[in-house]
Amino acid sequence: MKSKLFKKSIISINDLEPDDIDMILKKADEMEKLVLANDGDQRFKGKILAALFFEPSSRTFSSFITAMQKLGGGIIPLNRMDTTSVAKGETLEDTVRVFSNYADLLVIRHSEPGSVELADKYATAPVLNAGDGINEHPTQALIDFYTIRKKFPNRKNLHILMIGDLAHYRPTNSLMKLLSKYKEIKISLATPKKLKIQNNLRKFLKEQDVDFEEHETFDHLLSAVDVLYVTRVKKEYMGKKLYMEVKGSYIVDKNIIKLMKKNAIIMHCLPRIDEIHPEVDNNPRSVYFGPQIRNGLYVRMALIDLILSK
Ligand code: CP
Repeated sequence: MKSKLFKKSIISINDLEPDDIDMILKKADEMEKLVLANDGDQRFKGKILAALFFEPSSRTFSSFITAMQKLGGGIIPLNRMDTTSVAKGETLEDTVRVFSNYADLLVIRHSEPGSVELADKYATAPVLNAGDGINEHPTQALIDFYTIRKKFPNRKNLHILMIGDLAHYRPTNSLMKLLSKYKEIKISLATPKKLKIQNNLRKFLKEQDVDFEEHETFDHLLSAVDVLYVTRVKKEYMGKKLYMEVKGSYIVDKNIIKLMKKNAIIMHCLPRIDEIHPEVDNNPRSVYFGPQIRNGLYVRMALIDLILSK
């Protein structure tokens, strides 16, 4: 039977139904077993993934490249478009038309919200949104949800606290939309006044009847949360004046984590600057340098498999 995601683009997390998400997580489990047993296989020999990154990346770029190679496919790895004809003025529309002739799947990151959706209109190969400005990062949200589900396989009524710059952070935008599909989950948000979630996201969460609340401090919430999701202040998306005002607003250190449940987890999709003190890195609750990173490979292998498999 053909996968429901065969040749499908994923631009927003809202392109996926809960049964699609279940299928991706199950496939990620299979991919983990495959990697641990055999380091991968050759199922996509002859297929090509083009990674077109108009904005810097370490994890998303490298994990997609690794995922395709673990499945036997080839890659066009462009982690800076200034070495391509984009530097001569070629448009995004023309660029994706061209790369669709070489590749079976395009993975695109861009600094402009909506740009990957635009690219998808012109591409003839399926497109995965690897982050578009302050809008969405749907594959990171799938990784984060997979990480949460693996830690709490039998818990539905989880309490998830996200802190930091929720105005500009695309992974948490996508994660909140994903979590809105699971009504038993409670979401708490803590941000400085000027870094609250975008109005359209707040409206969406209300329309979806999500159990969420917004705060400006978070210490008082820690004893009740299962997941603490920490975000970076996105300096590249704000003026210097605002950055100087908000930087360092929240720092998670060993005193903060003493307030947390023993079996809670601390997540961050990285890069981290100063919002989690390095003294927290080896705490058993911290998953950001371990499972959260490894799951990135398995979830991206799963997506490639479900989109390319007939
Ligand atoms: N988490 C994440 O998107 O990291 P990169 O920006 O390094 O890809």
